[in-house]
Amino acid sequence: MAEVIAGSDANKGQEIYDKSCGNCHGPTLDGRGPRSGGITPRPPALVGPDAADLPAAALLRIVRDGSPGTSMAPWSRAFSENQQRDVIAYILAKKQVD
Ligand code: HEC
Repeated sequence: MAEVIAGSDANKGQEIYDKSCGNCHGPTLDGRGPRSGGITPRPPALVGPDAADLPAAALLRIVRDGSPGTSMAPWSRAFSENQQRDVIAYILAKKQVD
């Protein structure tokens, strides 16, 4: 897991998260963003007791490739690989303090 986020910047990741992810996954990563209500399947919580315990590599993959057939889009065009790692580093940091 460590090597996936080695050298990444959780603070930059937070900026990306707040702009592009919080609408659905919620400002506190609990899956209750303002857009989440009308979406099926609902955006999952990324931290807390309801969050799946996915390893960093799996998180990175879904952020890069999206989840076909859901509103989770692939983000590899919008964000560089480093930026994707930054946002995962932010999610993992929030998990630890959770
Ligand atoms: C339009 C709403 C929406 C936005 C915006 C969005 N997501 Fe998602 N996300 C989803 C949905 C819905 C799923 C569940 C997909 C599924 O069920 O396969 C998901 C799944 C995920 C997962 C997998 C979590 C799990 O427990 O399965 C991660 C990680 C994730 N998103 C991160 C992000 C990040 C990082 C961003 C911003 C770059 C983002 N998402 C933006 C809707 C969104």
